[in-house]
Amino acid sequence: MNYTREEIVVLLHKALNEKLMDMVEIISAKSEKISANLYVVGGFVRDLLLDRPNVDFDLVIEGESLDAAPEIAEIMRKEFGGRIILHRRFGTAKWILPSKLANELGLDILDFAATRSEFYEEPTKLPVVQSDNIGRDLYRRDFTINTIAISLSKSNFGEIIDLWNGVYDLNNKRLDVLHGKSFDDDPTRILRAVRLEERLGFNISDRVLVMIEESLGLLEKVTADRIRHEIEKILSEDCPENILARLCVLGIGKAICDELDCKNDRWLMEKFALVRSFDFVNNISSVYFGLWLYDLSEEEIGAVSHRLNLASSLKKSLIQVCRTKSHLNVLANDINPSVIVEILDGITEVAMQILLISTNDAVVMENIFQYYNKFRFVKPTLNGDTLIEMGLDSGPDVGRILAKLRAAWLDGDIYDLESEKKLAMKLVGDN
Ligand code: CTP
Repeated sequence: MNYTREEIVVLLHKALNEKLMDMVEIISAKSEKISANLYVVGGFVRDLLLDRPNVDFDLVIEGESLDAAPEIAEIMRKEFGGRIILHRRFGTAKWILPSKLANELGLDILDFAATRSEFYEEPTKLPVVQSDNIGRDLYRRDFTINTIAISLSKSNFGEIIDLWNGVYDLNNKRLDVLHGKSFDDDPTRILRAVRLEERLGFNISDRVLVMIEESLGLLEKVTADRIRHEIEKILSEDCPENILARLCVLGIGKAICDELDCKNDRWLMEKFALVRSFDFVNNISSVYFGLWLYDLSEEEIGAVSHRLNLASSLKKSLIQVCRTKSHLNVLANDINPSVIVEILDGITEVAMQILLISTNDAVVMENIFQYYNKFRFVKPTLNGDTLIEMGLDSGPDVGRILAKLRAAWLDGDIYDLESEKKLAMKLVGDN
């Protein structure tokens, strides 16, 4: 399907509120004043044509130099307020809108980028950037479906610029690259391909599948932070399990690091769906991470953490899961609350949620739930000072007796202050 300008204008009016459309016209007029052309490009246009909501409104300015985008952003800031974050070397500027305007437009930030071409001196390194025209700017992009631009300049407002058959590929649900060196330019595009394919319900083209296979070796050289960033983006998709499965089938996980050649089965599918059904899971991507890596040993977790430079808090949770999972068989029995506490005390909420979701055993689940909702909050009423007043010497015995009191509360051996005091006196006396 080809689009007329009128049809695109209708789609823009549907996707953007009136205030934002007015703002686009203002930016367009400001661009014209400095003899620059204005476009919207990339994910926004792709999703506009697919009728999917997308608030990532990336504006591209074709002017004399890389300064065109910072210049327009600065003009807007002067007139409407807010602040600008500049990356002059890349010709980009973020306009952080003042809050009143942000509310009216329905977005907090407007991104401006000067049209540019990129040149990779070395695969996997960041590119060298120079000012160029819209055609070259589109050519540096990852997939044909991301190279469609819409002109927002007054003279041809709403005209589609589609130099690499992006609209054709959109219509045919095909994910294709622009040229055979796309993954050499940026190997993280391999991960983007799988993520977009799944998100949009598209098919990676046959030639791209071959390219992926041939480019797997490049992933080894990509920095930890860039790979982790892509994995985090995968884990924030609606159904990341399908993407992880695809990564596994295509050998991408293993190419990132040997230990990531894991999990591509029903278990993972079921568990990820379960995560989404629990509304108490608020750090969903960490819980997904733990389930994805559930079968790994502590040493393997260490290797993955290193390769992806995982946050120390996440690494801690993953290691706790690893250590605690060997005790899950104990939790499968009808045991005293104090034993449950002994196994689970000190582990993070994320680790607890991973363990809870990982199990298929109703008793284990119930025991973890009890700990989560109740047992972890049980504390003795007496404190160390009271024990010392009772005659105990300060030192490690204080903590030991407090732990015994807590266990007695948990197991119902004591039930009020009087019974607690009685037990405390006995324990202090026996000491
Ligand atoms: N891009 C690229 N190569 C990359 C990352 C991004 O060519 N490794 C280009 C794509 O054309 C993309 C645009 O930069 O459309 C903006 O990037 P980003 O916002 O990350 O992509 P989206 O397509 O909007 O994807 P998502 O919605 O997942 O963020």
